[in-house]
Amino acid sequence: MANLRWYKIEEEIPEEDFMRQVIVAGKKLCLLRNEGKVHLIQNTCPHAGGILSGGWCTKGQLVCPIHRYAYSLENGRGAEGQGDYINIYPLREEPDGLYAGFRQSLFSRFFGGD
Ligand code: FES
Repeated sequence: MANLRWYKIEEEIPEEDFMRQVIVAGKKLCLLRNEGKVHLIQNTCPHAGGILSGGWCTKGQLVCPIHRYAYSLENGRGAEGQGDYINIYPLREEPDGLYAGFRQSLFSRFFGGD
């Protein structure tokens, strides 16, 4: 997990299952809780740009509301035959809240910025 930069998620995290768009580190992402576990994933469907936070979860997968492509919440892989994937961002629980890790580009590591 080297080269990750951690950003606090400034959002109330409900105890029950939920899914909504959030902005973390200036990026629009999809934050959700499914079967008790919180996930942070990209919010744009790689198939044709559907908004994933408008979808739903079933059997450990998130389903896009547009054409119903499904993506694993654990590793981001698209269902069989799709050949695509979504980004999943690592989360870290700290005493003051939840943090999301973002890979830093080589450029930002050397020259600063995000
Ligand atoms: S836009 Fe998401 S499945 Fe087509």
